[in-house]
Amino acid sequence: MVDRRKWREDFPIRWEEDHYMTRRELARFLTLGSGLLALVNGLIAAVGLTRPSLTVPARRIAGIEDVPVGGSMLFTFPTIDDPCILIRDDDGQLSAFSQVCTHLSCAVVHRPLERVLACPCHRGAFSSTDGRPLVGPPTRRLPRITIEQRGADIVATGVQL
Ligand code: FES
Repeated sequence: MVDRRKWREDFPIRWEEDHYMTRRELARFLTLGSGLLALVNGLIAAVGLTRPSLTVPARRIAGIEDVPVGGSMLFTFPTIDDPCILIRDDDGQLSAFSQVCTHLSCAVVHRPLERVLACPCHRGAFSSTDGRPLVGPPTRRLPRITIEQRGADIVATGVQL
């Protein structure tokens, strides 16, 4: 019996040559595709959580007497073109960060009473203890300068981006 319906004349598809995909094949494709996307997202998240560090030659940046308790001082590291800020909090704990705001590169200033590094350009602020952004447009933390106290000297040993 020959099928003579009108639509078959308008759309002459040869069914035996068409490629069919079974539901099982479609489900397998979707499962593998979703698994692959989840794996890639996991890898991206893992890379984002690790902070790469820059290995640079260690250098003395100050003496401990140069930084008053509750105060700060400016220095450059690892090159003369990289402004940084060294902070000594009320407990005497030392920490150092890049002074370049991660939003649009203005210089941050230390506000010890608020325990922040404030950016005057767009009212951004970072924690002075770990450099994470607190308010304003910046979304990335300030690079941390790793430091060591060697006797009376404060030595910068690297940069955590
Ligand atoms: S440059 Fe620092 S908040 Fe915009």
